[in-house]
Amino acid sequence: MRAARRIEKLPPYLFAEIDRKVSEARSRGVDIISFGVGDPDLPSPPHVIEALQEAAADPVTHRYPSYIGMPEFRASIAGWYERRFGVTLDPDTEVQPLVGSKEGIFHLPVAFVDPGDVALIPDPGYPVYETGTILAHGEAVLMPLLPENSFKPDLDALSEEVLSKAKVLWLNYPSNPTAACVDKSYFDEVVAFCRSHDLLLAHDAAYTEITYDGYVAPSVLEAEGARDVAVEFHSLSKTYNMTGWRIGWVAGAPVAIEAIKRLKTNIDSGIFDAVQRAGIAAIDGPQDHLAECVDRYRHRRDLLCDGLKSMGVVVDPPKGSIYLWAPVPEGHTSESYTTFLLEECGIVVAPGTGYGPSGEGFIRFSLTLADDRLEEGVERLRRISS
Ligand SMILES: Cc1ncc(COP(=O)(O)O)c(C=O)c1O
Repeated sequence: MRAARRIEKLPPYLFAEIDRKVSEARSRGVDIISFGVGDPDLPSPPHVIEALQEAAADPVTHRYPSYIGMPEFRASIAGWYERRFGVTLDPDTEVQPLVGSKEGIFHLPVAFVDPGDVALIPDPGYPVYETGTILAHGEAVLMPLLPENSFKPDLDALSEEVLSKAKVLWLNYPSNPTAACVDKSYFDEVVAFCRSHDLLLAHDAAYTEITYDGYVAPSVLEAEGARDVAVEFHSLSKTYNMTGWRIGWVAGAPVAIEAIKRLKTNIDSGIFDAVQRAGIAAIDGPQDHLAECVDRYRHRRDLLCDGLKSMGVVVDPPKGSIYLWAPVPEGHTSESYTTFLLEECGIVVAPGTGYGPSGEGFIRFSLTLADDRLEEGVERLRRISS
């Protein structure tokens, strides 16, 4: 038996590969400190867990959920957009719940990219933009994100030929993996660009709520004219430490929402209603948990930046996300330094090239590990560099 050729075209998922190396090291007795996957170590808020427990005990939630999500959950999402960004959304036509934003990000190209169409993809970037495009038989054209351009793509460098075939342009700020952030004026520019080239702008906003030092991340839907050409992916995963719950959404241009809805009715059967009720509790309930988590991440960010600085590696403390994007020492590549750290001191980081060729020369640290482990990690890094 032989799997389909399209499976052969898919690279192994980056963290599946890292997990394999880590298990191997652990089985040799190595004490691993993982700055690898960006999976919050802090628990989901207690009132959200209580809401789930109560809802799960209600037999009404035990049947198939609605394909398009509970009206109350969609209303909650629209209410959040209004409060947080001043953006008014129609919960019926401009909001679609997702089984985690990864699900929708992967499926967007299936709904929007025909074979031979181009999707413009940030490099380095979250790998799913590219793999979704590959499975839709689209062509992924990478847009390098370089430090000298503040990790923004150079849209003027895109040729007319590429633009004539392009259907979708992906952005993600605060960015995984570079941690770069943008202001609303940047979204105004990109929306104008997408309008003039008839592109769907797909913004992945997974980290907009994890920001520091007074920076407040904008939504792409705040930009002038965005509502016809842009969609935004969001999720409860990082904002409320709910990665395991699989709940997110896409909001924006009704044409795109309609296409995604149509696709999804054929794929999944919606999110467990009890999880949606818990989602409402997360969005509409007390928000102090978020402020505490952000404080915790800020503390870890500063510990790691200071540690790296004392080793001669200067990283500007990022204003958003749960990552640090650090250059590797001279003489190393991203891969070789990642392997070196694992073998020399049991430290796991993500190689920059796991996010695209322009990630060469960088590694990504995630801040999702307990403070004492992070401190021990910094200590180990100091030891190997002294
Ligand atoms: C940039 C980005 N987008 C989307 C996701 C997926 O999040 P989820 O599917 O948990 O909503 C992640 C997860 O790490 C991410 O880093």
